[in-house]
Amino acid sequence: MKKIIFLAFLFYASVNAQQNTTTPTGLVTTKAMVVSAREEASKIGGDIMKRGGNAFDAMVGTELALAVAFPFAGNIGGGGFMVYRKANGETGSLDYREKAPLAATKDMFLDKDGNVIKGKSTETALAIGVPGTIAGVFAVHKKYGSMKMEEILKPIIALAERGVIVTKKQEKSLKDYHESIVKINGENSLLSGNFKENDTIKYLSLAKTLKRIQKKGRNEFYKGETAKILVNYLKQKGGIITMEDLAKYEAKWRKPLQFTYKDLKITSMSPPSSGGICLAQILKMLEPYDLAKMGHNSEEAIQLIVEAERRAYADRNYFLGDPDFVKIPLKELLDTNYLRERIASFNPEQASLSSEIKEGKVTYNESTETTHYSIVDQFGNAIAATTTLNDGYGSKYYCDELGFFLNNEMDDFSAKPGSPNMFGLIGNEANSIAPQKRMLSSMTPTIVEKDGKLFMVVGTPGGSTIITSVLQTILNVYEYKLSMQQAVNAPRFHHQWMPDLITFEPNTFETKTINNLKAKKYLINEKTTPIIGKVDAILILPDNKLEGGADFRGDDKAVGF
Ligand code: DON
Repeated sequence: MKKIIFLAFLFYASVNAQQNTTTPTGLVTTKAMVVSAREEASKIGGDIMKRGGNAFDAMVGTELALAVAFPFAGNIGGGGFMVYRKANGETGSLDYREKAPLAATKDMFLDKDGNVIKGKSTETALAIGVPGTIAGVFAVHKKYGSMKMEEILKPIIALAERGVIVTKKQEKSLKDYHESIVKINGENSLLSGNFKENDTIKYLSLAKTLKRIQKKGRNEFYKGETAKILVNYLKQKGGIITMEDLAKYEAKWRKPLQFTYKDLKITSMSPPSSGGICLAQILKMLEPYDLAKMGHNSEEAIQLIVEAERRAYADRNYFLGDPDFVKIPLKELLDTNYLRERIASFNPEQASLSSEIKEGKVTYNESTETTHYSIVDQFGNAIAATTTLNDGYGSKYYCDELGFFLNNEMDDFSAKPGSPNMFGLIGNEANSIAPQKRMLSSMTPTIVEKDGKLFMVVGTPGGSTIITSVLQTILNVYEYKLSMQQAVNAPRFHHQWMPDLITFEPNTFETKTINNLKAKKYLINEKTTPIIGKVDAILILPDNKLEGGADFRGDDKAVGF
């Protein structure tokens, strides 16, 4: 199947290159669109806009519908980031990332000898950060929503009560995680069942929780009955989140990260996500080169992109953390001369060694399973939002009384400088644990403008591979003239400085390309590769219609009108 898609892709790409025009291959609509991980969620978001709601109403609807229809990553027990661009060109972003509880300590995942205790930051109740999603959707609604929250929640509660049909991919994911879900929650927990494709799962406890939130608002989750049940549950499981932690949680409006790449203006997430900075660094390093001429996924292009990625991730891991706690040398890291110099050390004949590439020399004063959806509405507003529990089904802790999974986002902190987290990312002091601090993220919800007009809305899950997947999707459309859907489908590769490996999606790249890279001393990880990203994106076509790119790697679906 993958091979056929790849061959069709190659054929398409060559026809396209010859004609230099791009025919859309994804869903095309005239007014509005939602692309998300599940059709049920895209439909709820789409219907909200059909009823006259705007992209912000649809964001609230899609986010919460994913919490019902896509428990793998959709959540109210996790957090995320949202980047927007209003029809008038105004941009902004919301940080509803989880926070470390007040009782968290820097060494909480280390043994007495200072070594990381395996699994403690991922599989125990201590892995859970204070959830931000409900605060996030209410903040969005308060600032820009136009419909009543009660109305937005209605179809979501109805979906939870009616139940959601298990897809083939969901059957597999529930099977893959069965053992760990049962280990934490026992046999009688809702998602401990042996579900098969076409079964219907009713989320009745979640419906009840959402009804209480519908009636009592945001504070029901952070101060009300839901908060009490949650804190009690966590206490029993050895967690440390208190009523005070929940009461203190606030989502934060932040200035998004903006930069240009050739004639594109890109708006993405600023820290505590590394996504925007890292994407900016990579694109700025690539800017002087003619990638289009090198050819899509050619040896030359892969090599250049890998070398830029290597250098950007080295900086990411050293400098980045929660800006409320650490000073980030933003200006210096994004300085064009600094980045040009940094990529200049690359030798086309031979791989750079990550062990020899350290973070850049920057002078500054030191003070101290996810899912993405893209929305464009009929008014011209655009939203890119990425939301997560971290791992698939988060920490696996499922509070049956409330009907949702809790995240294991604490693993995104650097438990110990130099020790890799579950994505192999090595962090530093800037991302060490502290009470109330937000853990560094790679989530990269991104909006691209061209000639002053909305051009693309894009993002993806995939842990450390998020940034490089968003990067390749933008390049696929802009440099290689692929349609939105083809850009999403195209085979992807990834490098993150450490481990010093290029990861390719298996069986999708030419053997010759890989062998030539090996000859230049690149270390290749091809066999054990999971999926790199599940990109959901929207492209604004020259005639102002919208083309969706829904990733075939998941059950993702574009819906619109
Ligand atoms: O914030 C982050 O970077 C991670 N917690 C994202 C996790 C993720 O994408 C898992 N999905 N495959």
